[in-house]
Amino acid sequence: MQIYLSNAGAITLRHPADFRRLDVLADPQPPERLEHAIARVGRREDELHIRLAPSVLRFLSQHAGDPQWEADFSAMVDYASRHGWVDERGDIRAHMIVNEHDEVVSVDDFKAAMRALPAGISAITTAGGDDVAGMIVSSLTSISADPPMVGFFVHKTSSARDALLRNGCFVANILGEGHHDVIQSFLKAPQGKARFAQGSWIMNDRGTPVLPDALASIECDIICTEALGTHDLIVGKIRSATCHQAQPVINFNSCMHRIAPAHIQ
Ligand SMILES: Cc1cc2nc3c(=O)[nH]c(=O)nc-3n(C[C@H](O)[C@H](O)[C@H](O)COP(=O)(O)O)c2cc1C
Repeated sequence: MQIYLSNAGAITLRHPADFRRLDVLADPQPPERLEHAIARVGRREDELHIRLAPSVLRFLSQHAGDPQWEADFSAMVDYASRHGWVDERGDIRAHMIVNEHDEVVSVDDFKAAMRALPAGISAITTAGGDDVAGMIVSSLTSISADPPMVGFFVHKTSSARDALLRNGCFVANILGEGHHDVIQSFLKAPQGKARFAQGSWIMNDRGTPVLPDALASIECDIICTEALGTHDLIVGKIRSATCHQAQPVINFNSCMHRIAPAHIQ
């Protein structure tokens, strides 16, 4: 198995059922980011070795709890122990490899490709007491039906990010043709109550703004966040959802568009 410390910020366990190897693969990244990532999984022993806590490997594995995986994992730890690779704290010594093959597209090419992706437009709202916040996103996506979940991506510099993480809940209001003023207000007004000056906003039972004439208003509790490069993924488990018939709008090639039926057979 291999812990992958990506330069996107995500940490994953690769090859979790390969018990013949244990190493750490690190993408090229600034030294302090690398040290921070290492501290999340264990501790640095020297230039080329990391001490890994078995509990971290079990936490990252999708197979922990499976009897066969547990037996094989214990056998791997015993094998490492017999070779003197497990210290008095029970942490296993693993080799660190620096990833030499980190080929990525340029930011310009990335943006050009993403401009070609048509996407719905939603007003995300959150509140804690009098502290209301909102932002426009086109990254809202369906994740799971059971349990029901949606997610979106928020830029680390977005003024709504801290409020979302603090409040632990949000409402995703899917916008339509009649919501031009709502979009403009969210994009131009200062963060807080001023953003809600346009639109027929009402408060839900938790005091979070809901737009009753949105195509859908999806009320969520945040159950998972993950820092990924410039953005944080925010995943919400859906408590309730209401729908309303209206004409949708989409964002495509940096402009807003109406949609029309395609009549494809
Ligand atoms: C159509 C559209 C879609 C957007 N989608 C996202 C998104 O998915 N995630 C995000 O962080 N910002 C997105 N933005 C930018 C934010 O709405 C907002 O402008 C930015 O976070 C700065 O917000 P602030 O003034 O509250 O800091 C989008 C903007 C537009 C116009």
